[in-house]
Amino acid sequence: MKHLDDLSQLSAATAAWRAAGLHVGFVPTMGALHAGHLSLVGAARAACDRVVVSVFLNPTQFGPNEDLDAYPSDLARDRALLEEAGVDALFTTSPSAMYPDGFATWVEVEGLTDRLCGASREGHFRGVTTVVTKLLNLVGPCRAFFGEKDRQQLVVLQRMVADLNLPVEAVGCPIVREPDGLALSSRNAYLDPAERTRALALSQGLRDAQQAFAGGETSGPALEAAVRARLEAAAAELDYVELVDPGNLARLAVAVPGAVLAVAAKVGSTRLIDNHALGQPWR
Ligand code: PAJ
Repeated sequence: MKHLDDLSQLSAATAAWRAAGLHVGFVPTMGALHAGHLSLVGAARAACDRVVVSVFLNPTQFGPNEDLDAYPSDLARDRALLEEAGVDALFTTSPSAMYPDGFATWVEVEGLTDRLCGASREGHFRGVTTVVTKLLNLVGPCRAFFGEKDRQQLVVLQRMVADLNLPVEAVGCPIVREPDGLALSSRNAYLDPAERTRALALSQGLRDAQQAFAGGETSGPALEAAVRARLEAAAAELDYVELVDPGNLARLAVAVPGAVLAVAAKVGSTRLIDNHALGQPWR
């Protein structure tokens, strides 16, 4: 595996692959890698000839009171995991290389970013869409892989790719969960053992709603209430729970197969998100 930490080296390496007719796949990450990230690498390996992974803790997507400084990081471990997963190139860089003095250009997706996580994380999606645009321009992949775990991020990025005619396909990949249901997240590392147990409320609530839907319940408020009940029992602080259309994230009053129930809540000081597309198998 090549480890590239220079923007022009990265572009040159991927340009050579494209010139040789190879399909380049790309998986952007912020590091502290887990099996969720590695599932995206697996999808990229299966679909592309060469796989590039970036590990860049992007400061512009964190608010002033968020966890940028505490965010877990272990590049040596990440590198070993990516090597073992058969990645062709790891890209790392610094905030000053990505955002040099004078940096003044931002990519913003309107509307879709106002709701759900966007409502409580001002500026977050602007940071995500800007860094992903820069990374896509540097790597030039034909496919980039994103997790459904961050469902709103996936929808926003697919909108951006379409709206800006970016020559890449943004591929969504299923959520990877712990055996007990907790969605894998780098932020799970913040949870102490008692919080780790309470954090199960998100996935348990989604499962309850999934079972209610399978039993014929289609009322959006009733399905949302099923999730809320689990969160209340675990003393998790609800940010939102909403039944939404997976295409445009508009709130749905009535569930149809594929409708997404999305939840965000704080357990202690850790903000967690999860979602499930109703009627899809629970994984
Ligand atoms: P990060 O949180 O590191 O996640 C990188 C990718 O891994 C995202 O596409 C995310 O949805 C996916 N992912 C995380 N947990 C997952 C899980 N349990 N199952 C499946 N996929 C999972 O998301 C970001 O970084 C950043 O916003 C980024 C896109 C890299 C831009 O900075």
